[in-house]
Amino acid sequence: MKLLVTGGTGFIGSHTVVALIEAGHEVVIVDNLVNSQRNVVTKIKRITGVKPLFYKVDVAHEKGLRKVFSEHKFDAVIHFAGLKAVDESVEKPLMYYRNNLDSTITLLELMREFGVKNILFSSSATVYGTPKRVPLKEEDPIGGTTNPYGTTKLFIEQILMDFVAANPGFKAVSLRYFNPIGAHPSKLLGESPSDIPNNIMPYISRVANGKLSHLNVFGDDYETPDGTGIRDYVHVMDLAYGHLLALKAFEFDHAYNVYNLGTGKGTSVLELVHLYEKANRLKIPYVIGPRRSGDIAESFADISKAKTELGFVPQYTVKDACRHAYLFEKKQK
Ligand code: NAD
Ligand code: UD1
Repeated sequence: MKLLVTGGTGFIGSHTVVALIEAGHEVVIVDNLVNSQRNVVTKIKRITGVKPLFYKVDVAHEKGLRKVFSEHKFDAVIHFAGLKAVDESVEKPLMYYRNNLDSTITLLELMREFGVKNILFSSSATVYGTPKRVPLKEEDPIGGTTNPYGTTKLFIEQILMDFVAANPGFKAVSLRYFNPIGAHPSKLLGESPSDIPNNIMPYISRVANGKLSHLNVFGDDYETPDGTGIRDYVHVMDLAYGHLLALKAFEFDHAYNVYNLGTGKGTSVLELVHLYEKANRLKIPYVIGPRRSGDIAESFADISKAKTELGFVPQYTVKDACRHAYLFEKKQK
């Protein structure tokens, strides 16, 4: 297939582009580089031998994106582009609504105009709000998001549903990611935020590499076996293959479809720390602190729908992801 990948130089996008190219798809990347770097394109070439075409374009800018659509005939779009920092979204909600919603609406308008009928969208487990039960299933209620970032995901899922309902022949698939971690085994691609990381894995990797002194564990008084928060950590390469498999969903009858992408297994903060220590034969100093506001005790996926319908079976362990994340961070300045 010929695919337009928005946000394709970002963390999950870049790994997915590798998986797509390796499977023989043709990829065109559009990214405004607000949270990634152009040299990712060269790194993709080093891994796959193929340099995807790259456009530095803001997906919310109709003129720039129109040029891309008029120069290529795409079979489908994979839409990663978006802002994703939870705290920043609380401080600057309009920036998040403007960027994430405008970019999606502009993209859908051009898809309709140019007859590009299929879209895969990067949604998040955050749309489930505070889970009533775990594991989370796709049919569980969504809503009750606790920050504007999460609410953009909820709104975009609704926009996609309305769009395909109004435009027969168009199909949309929302992939609800749980907690993506790790890096490409080549150490060329990974996640290294420019500020102090908010998410646990890049934070631990900075501690492991001596760039931060210790991990602050956000609470050990949750109703979980060791009192720390439980999440479903999925290796970013497994997530990448999940997108490859999800392209199959465009052949199904549903105009709108949703899949959880996780591993189906929860890991606590302290278990993660210990796996990281074992994987890399080092110690992670940590201090137990108060809970982080907005955090939930436990979130992990039921992935049986993705397994049965798409053949999604994660191959990497959390320990593998700890190893890859460490090695990637070690290479960063
Ligand atoms: P990322 O920031 O590394 O990648 C997003 C990319 O989109 C970046 O390269 C950024 O430059 C680009 N971008 C942002 N706004 C743009 C715009 N208007 N036009 C063009 N490019 C734009 O983030 P990621 O972790 O790779 O996440 C990819 C997608 O998955 C995002 O939509 C994110 O919200 C979603 N998601 C991520 C996680 C996670 O834990 N990383 C979890 C659930 C969902
Ligand atoms: C967070 C976001 C979520 C977003 C996801 C991916 C919040 C409340 N949720 O999910 O909306 O989709 O990132 O970007 O921010 N932890 C520590 N110490 C740290 C960092 C984290 O103990 O320094 C703990 C957390 O309390 C949690 C677990 O580690 O139990 C995972 O945290 P994190 O990586 O931030 O992901 P989520 O909170 O699941």
